[in-house]
Amino acid sequence: MRPLWYRNAVIYQIDPSLFRDASGDGYGDLRGITERLDYIRGLGATAIWLMPFYQSPFDDAGYDVSDHLQVDPRFGDLADVVALMEKAEELGIHVIIELVVQHTSSAHRWFQEARRDRDSPYRDYYLWTDQPHDEPHDEIRPIFPTVEDSIWSWDEEAGQYYRHLFYSHEPDLNLQNPRVLHEIERIMSFWLRLGVSGFRVDAAVHMVRQAGGGDLAQGFWLLEHMRDFVTLRRPETVLIGEIDADPEHYLEYFGDEGDRVTLLLNFWLNNYLFLALARRSAEPLCRALAAQPLPPGHTQYAVWMRNHDELSLDRLEPHERDEVMATFAPDESMRAYDRGIRRRLAPMLEGDARRLAATHALLFSLPGTPIVRYGEEIGMGDDLSRPERLAVRTPMQWSNEHNAGFSCAASERLAAPLVAEGPFAFDRVNVYAQTTRDDSLLAHTGNMIRTRIGLREIGGGRHATLEVGDPGVFAIRHDNDSTVLMLTNLTDRETVVQILDEDLQEMVDVLANCDYERPEGSPLRIRLTAYGYRWLRRKQQFFG
Ligand code: BGC
Repeated sequence: MRPLWYRNAVIYQIDPSLFRDASGDGYGDLRGITERLDYIRGLGATAIWLMPFYQSPFDDAGYDVSDHLQVDPRFGDLADVVALMEKAEELGIHVIIELVVQHTSSAHRWFQEARRDRDSPYRDYYLWTDQPHDEPHDEIRPIFPTVEDSIWSWDEEAGQYYRHLFYSHEPDLNLQNPRVLHEIERIMSFWLRLGVSGFRVDAAVHMVRQAGGGDLAQGFWLLEHMRDFVTLRRPETVLIGEIDADPEHYLEYFGDEGDRVTLLLNFWLNNYLFLALARRSAEPLCRALAAQPLPPGHTQYAVWMRNHDELSLDRLEPHERDEVMATFAPDESMRAYDRGIRRRLAPMLEGDARRLAATHALLFSLPGTPIVRYGEEIGMGDDLSRPERLAVRTPMQWSNEHNAGFSCAASERLAAPLVAEGPFAFDRVNVYAQTTRDDSLLAHTGNMIRTRIGLREIGGGRHATLEVGDPGVFAIRHDNDSTVLMLTNLTDRETVVQILDEDLQEMVDVLANCDYERPEGSPLRIRLTAYGYRWLRRKQQFFG
């Protein structure tokens, strides 16, 4: 069987409006991304995830789509998509795009037609009511509670209320309507023909519930249908589900046969990763891993540290959430929507270079496909003066030159202001400055990514966390023919840990934060500096 490309992939997440502006209008664009694909390849990433670049009024960073089959002019045109796909193919990079069909923008032609005429076939594309009512499930409530106080808004032209879980300018689609399903198929076919390798299924949990007419359990057919549809056209297509749910439900999203989502965005593990960082203890992560099911068949988890949204801590117990909040968002201004943190990782870790590198090493040691959001590899900061999630959406910092090398437009015309002051300002934190230093975060993350790609033990293998005699050290082994042992010291004190597993006595370093002496003794003793990390492999891999 051909190896599945996503098993050992590292995905680089790009916000097209903030990555690189090639046209000089102040907005990042597709051409800019194409020009920087070699940077991403150099980093070692094997796939990119592009956030929405479709036609949109852009009131929700493009997640408010007004035409799924058009490129918004600010990003270029379809020929630019083709050029990007060609370059990506040449470099061996898979391209994953967003499938945003839980809702549309209210500017979408479907909604315009729907509100105009009760008898229009488009009316039934959306969810309407004459009288807002309480929903049977308390999950059906505004997703941005501090912004919207109801999921129903009155539409004067339609003479009815329409439903919107997100913003009022994002009406929810009626996913039980076969015509809507057909539209989704058209969208998927279209982009698959252009060569994409997969879709991130936005708001997948809500989609499933909508497809079940409000009953989650009845809606999983939608994921199976989508899976079937893409498999017939391109068998290796991935569906990455945005599934912020408790782990006891994960198997429902994977499907018993692994016939629903291919990769599940693991918010559960993400939350416990932050608890582990806050406590400087491996226990929360070990507990979280033990509580999640093994993905069936060819499916897998996707893991990351920070994405483009607030770090929502919904999966933690209330006291755990308070702890993470108190540690990483002590100030009210660092929080959003009564549930999450609107900061990037580097400021949360106070720019501590050693700790940042260790945290990346920790992420890459977890089972699943890692996702690195643009700018994480150099430790970019945030801008808390901007509202809500916009705090973490600032332009990529390429250099210390004009506009951080992001755009040649006048600075006041940029898609978002640059981080120009403080410890994370672009003249201090940028790609260029870090490229020339082999002790930079960029150098470390690049080494990790490239090494990780080659560790076949991780992708399809089994994993087990290890008790090593120091609660501050997270230790995990991955087995698949061979074994890799990955250790991260979450604390700022040096330590020596012991490996008791008898079959792990002959291990040598493949990557570490510094040069270490060979592990020795029986049981094996392994030294780690403060925030040290070491990845070791069986000696036979090299000398056998
Ligand atoms: C995306 C958000 C977006 C929302 C509405 C989410 O899941 O990650 O950024 O606001 O969907 O489309």
